[in-house]
This record gives sequence, structure tokens and C-alpha cells, in this order.
Amino acid sequence: MKEKPVLGDPLPASHPDNAILSMLGKRRSTTVAMMTEPGPSPAQLDDILEIASRVPDHRRVVPYRFIVFAGEARGRAGSILSTMYGNQNPGADAASLALEQQRFLRAPVVVAVVAKTDPAHKTPEWEQVLCCGAVCHNMLLGASASGFAGQWLTEWYAYDREVLAAFGLAQEERIAGFIYLGTAKEDPLERPRVEAADITTHWQGG
Ligand SMILES: Cc1cc2nc3c(=O)[nH]c(=O)nc-3n(C[C@H](O)[C@H](O)[C@H](O)COP(=O)(O)O)c2cc1C
Repeated sequence: MKEKPVLGDPLPASHPDNAILSMLGKRRSTTVAMMTEPGPSPAQLDDILEIASRVPDHRRVVPYRFIVFAGEARGRAGSILSTMYGNQNPGADAASLALEQQRFLRAPVVVAVVAKTDPAHKTPEWEQVLCCGAVCHNMLLGASASGFAGQWLTEWYAYDREVLAAFGLAQEERIAGFIYLGTAKEDPLERPRVEAADITTHWQGG
């Protein structure tokens, strides 16, 4: 990262910037079906992960870690999905197995955000889970500002303990998200959004 701060550096308390406001106001996921090459280079990905990791984290628990799936490792991950899917669905047809084989090949880079929350820590586990969610979203924003499309997915394999064990997760670890990163084949369209005013009340007391 060009301007990575070091300990004790004075940092801006805010970053007034219309370009950032525009980006946040138009934030949109790109579905993996619409994703293609290129993905972030190793150096760009390092920066995106640094940004992802720069989240509010009560008592600095660091309740998360990353697993990167890139290059040929994506096909090997797909083989695991396909095998596990086939084992669990003995009647699965060839198309379904092929879909599982291809899952991680839908984007150039996939990052698993692994939640390794500590229920015994003084910081409530709920807060640690929220921190992991913030990491996923920060990753999408960092990727977007770096010129890449992204989508936060879980899908069935995020909850399959056999798959997760094959990916190296410990029994107590969970997936916060698989963040698919690449380039959009075409720009996405706006989808229905909630009006913040419709879900906002102003507490007046009494
Ligand atoms: C924790 C989490 C898991 C998600 N998992 C899936 C998923 O498995 N499949 C899916 O189609 N969308 C999933 N989404 C939704 C997409 O990431 C994305 O929000 C959606 O495509 C809408 O696009 P938007 O982000 O532009 O609103 C998930 C979102 C979150 C926060």
C-alpha cells in the first residue's frame, strides 16, 4: 500500500471526498455470473486485504483470518466441492457436479473470510461476529476502489463442515463470507433498495 501508516502516525479524522461519497452511494455487488478476468494482482490483493483488515475491532481480538483461492487452487477447491456434493447427493447429475467443480473458477480470486471468534473473550462474541462482517464489506469497498468487482457469497459450502475441514478450518471456525473478486463483464443495474428514512426513527425521549 502506498501510504500505509505506521504506529503513532497522525491520521485524518475524516476524509471529505465527493468521489468516495459517489462510490459509497452507488455501491453494488457484481454477481459471479457476470464476473471475468482480470482479478487483483498479488500486490493489489495484499492491499485489499490490508484495507479489509482495517476494521473496528473491540479490544483488538482479530477474530478473523483470510484464505485466498487463486489460480489452479480454485479448480482443486472445486474438486472438493464436487466430491462432497456427490457424496451427499448420490443421484446428482453430471451438470450439478460440473457446477460444483466450477464454483471457484467463476472469479479470478476468491477470499474466504474465516471467523475465528473467541466465546471466552471479554469482548462479546456478537461483537466479534459483527467485526467479521465489517471485514467482508471493507474488502468489497477496497476492491471497488482498486477497480475490481466483488460479491459476498456463502452458498451451501460455507456451512458444510466436511468442506470447511478440507479447506483447513478448525471445528470452531466459521465462514463469514467467500468474497469473489474480478472484473465485471458489464456494469450491474440498480436493484430495489430500502429508503433509510423508512427504517429510521428519531428518539425523542419520554
Ligand atoms: C453474509 C452474506 C451472505 C450472502 N450470501 C449470498 C449467497 O450465497 N448467494 C447470493 O446470491 N447472494 C448472497 N449474498 C448477497 C450478495 O452478496 C449481494 O448483497 C447481492 O447480490 C445484492 O447485491 P448488492 O450488494 O448490490 O445489494 C450474501 C450477502 C451476505 C451479507
